[in-house]
Amino acid sequence: MFQLPRGTRDFTPRDMQKRRYVEDTMRTVFQSFGYQEVQTPTFETLELFTAKSGEGIIDELYSFTDKGGRELALRPELTAPVMRFYVEKLQMEAKPLKLFYFGNCFRYDRPQKGRYREFWQAGCELVGTDTPESYAELISLAYAVLRMTGLKNITVNIGNLTILSSIFTKLNLSKDQQQELIPLIDKAQFDDVKTTLQQFGVAQRDQEKFLDILQTANIKKLSSFVQHDAQARQEIDLLTAIINLLPLFNIKNYHLKMSIVRGLDYYKGMVFEIDAPNLGAEKQLCGGGAYELIPLFGGRETPTAGFAIGFDRTILALETEKYAFPSPTLTAYVIPVNKALLEQSFTIAQQLRSKNIATDIDLLRRGIGKALKYASSINAKTAIIVGPQELKQDAVMVRDMKSGKQELVKCSALPKKFR
Ligand code: HAM
Repeated sequence: MFQLPRGTRDFTPRDMQKRRYVEDTMRTVFQSFGYQEVQTPTFETLELFTAKSGEGIIDELYSFTDKGGRELALRPELTAPVMRFYVEKLQMEAKPLKLFYFGNCFRYDRPQKGRYREFWQAGCELVGTDTPESYAELISLAYAVLRMTGLKNITVNIGNLTILSSIFTKLNLSKDQQQELIPLIDKAQFDDVKTTLQQFGVAQRDQEKFLDILQTANIKKLSSFVQHDAQARQEIDLLTAIINLLPLFNIKNYHLKMSIVRGLDYYKGMVFEIDAPNLGAEKQLCGGGAYELIPLFGGRETPTAGFAIGFDRTILALETEKYAFPSPTLTAYVIPVNKALLEQSFTIAQQLRSKNIATDIDLLRRGIGKALKYASSINAKTAIIVGPQELKQDAVMVRDMKSGKQELVKCSALPKKFR
């Protein structure tokens, strides 16, 4: 017996119905905001991912050397690939350029519920604008994509890395000290943050002020902390403008969260995350923000921002909310009552299929009783019973599988009946 590689999954037909349904909904929302779909390869040169993050990231990747000696990696995310694509082929496109994608990603993570080694992302990148309205629209797009799938319980958190870094500077923290603090902030281990700040010799008053901001930020508190820094003040104005625009996009419930640090190393300025609180440890459904990769990839500098939604976690969150996924039904199940009627039965099935009416047919030459039982087990809406008497009148018996009611329908009238 072979086993699934750790951290990967098979998807049953029912899983796939749910996933395709959610994917179709998400695609419609991206398109309704003027985004266009792109696709990039599943593997890229390893360097694409180490360029910004350094060699350290290799431990988290599926990387390999191919038969030609090239160092490659399965993509852990799609922002770097899409930016590589942009620099290579899309720089001349009119701005802003709005791109979205769906794709499987691979991370050498420790698997648990909601965290896999192969998982799927739905995401987008916005190139060529950094106005507050573009960021407000971006956040609202992420929110709309998730809400339109049917999710109810989600929270939007908005942070800013420039402001956070300005606070670090104000506290006189070296780069190494910041690196030590960031994982603690990320995991909301605030007691440990406090102890570490103490060890770094940060004054008691500043410790408390910083912890207060990490836990309950508002614009006023932030402003008072970073008045010394013109760039941070500019980001506070941007943040204020974004927040003021959110109600216009129907986002009334959001939190300012200065403890958002984001994992990938390319963000700067505005960042945001959307959580599904009832998912537990792996509750982060979406992460994104403004970032910089284009100059590093040799392109002309232009603002970029985007986000990615964890597709698998979205499905988990919907299941946790007991969302009633639509179950697609087969319109008709054709049952020839004997072997002699196979040909006519297939002709009927093919006629319906050519009109895009979902039709199946008994392939096991079963009796009517068993065939009807099967039809009901596969959720067929109707059964078309093809019998010799009815065929003499050029008709078949159509049975409603729910009510059990039967009616005689002319063969030529079948497509119209089901349309
Ligand atoms: P990320 O936060 O690393 O951001 O991933 C986005 C989402 O992918 C997460 O919020 C989570 O829902 C899902 N995810 C991440 N790792 C796993 C995993 N091992 N198993 C299941 N789901 C997972 C990015 O990837 C950025 N590229 C987002 C972005 C786009 N930023 C700008 N543009």
